[in-house]
Amino acid sequence: MADTLRASRTAVLVCQGRAAADGLVVPDRFADPTALPLLLPDERVAVEWVRTGEVPRQWRARVDYETVRAMAELMVPRTVAIDDAVRAHAAPQVVILGAGLDGRAWRMPELAGVAVFEVDQPASQQDKRDRAAALTGPPPAFVAVDFTRDVLGTALAAAGHRADAATTWIWEGVVPYLTTDQVAATVEALAGCSAPGSRLVVNFQLPAGSRKLSRLLARLLSASTGRSSVFANEPWLSFWTSATMGALLSQHGFAVTEDHNLLDVAKALRTQVRHPASLVLSAVLVAEFQAVRANT
Ligand SMILES: C[S@@+](CC[C@H](N)C(=O)[O-])C[C@H]1O[C@@H](n2cnc3c(N)ncnc32)[C@H](O)[C@@H]1O
Repeated sequence: MADTLRASRTAVLVCQGRAAADGLVVPDRFADPTALPLLLPDERVAVEWVRTGEVPRQWRARVDYETVRAMAELMVPRTVAIDDAVRAHAAPQVVILGAGLDGRAWRMPELAGVAVFEVDQPASQQDKRDRAAALTGPPPAFVAVDFTRDVLGTALAAAGHRADAATTWIWEGVVPYLTTDQVAATVEALAGCSAPGSRLVVNFQLPAGSRKLSRLLARLLSASTGRSSVFANEPWLSFWTSATMGALLSQHGFAVTEDHNLLDVAKALRTQVRHPASLVLSAVLVAEFQAVRANT
């Protein structure tokens, strides 16, 4: 199980990826000026190397550089696919599930006037609140929820979320950290506070035989720098195909309307792809909420 007593390190890593790409990679389609301000000074160092193309010679620094560069490659198509789905569907409420250091509440002009809620486990959320003091603009409503033990609908309602008004749910980079049962329970909870017209945008990891080997290599690489892997306390626990995720969503009244593989998105954006095996194993589904299907 993921360690939810500490702030997420993977949230920092994906934020570093966005900061490294901001304004440099397909700037007409991707921008995240909130990412760099959300990072602490030591977290910005590798970002700067990637941005300037200064390849460090020292081994530990080189590992950091390669890790952030690979993350930038993944974050651009992931962010574009999700932003497009959010923009295409105006809703009076947006809930960002497992928000980490996501800057959408501050950076997307389309969310001005929208009630934005950020849900995350308490330690990650406190870390975000501290860092977000560096951002300008109205903050979202922060709702502390651990998906493995808290009741999402109750916490959201207490923060002012309305179950009778449409919501766009953004669930990015979180599904792998939950077990299959926890993912299913969370989708059920989302359906329980979704009005017709709500939309779910969910990102998840596909199953692959090569995963164990690549995780082992990543761990060895981290060990070679004398540090633990960022995934040590945040292991991946569930993998889904578009079919299995689509079936779960459909069971709870969400009909899939779009299915994006991130390698296809990257190819369409014409970004440089050095790690196709990583991109091809990540997907984004968009689903519209109609009604909860009666159990038969
Ligand atoms: C890789 S980060 C992704 C953050 C953000 N969605 C993004 O894409 O930038 C994973 C996030 O999931 C959150 N998370 C993991 N397990 C959780 C749980 N059981 N309950 C609530 N949040 C959780 C972490 O706190 C972290 O913010």
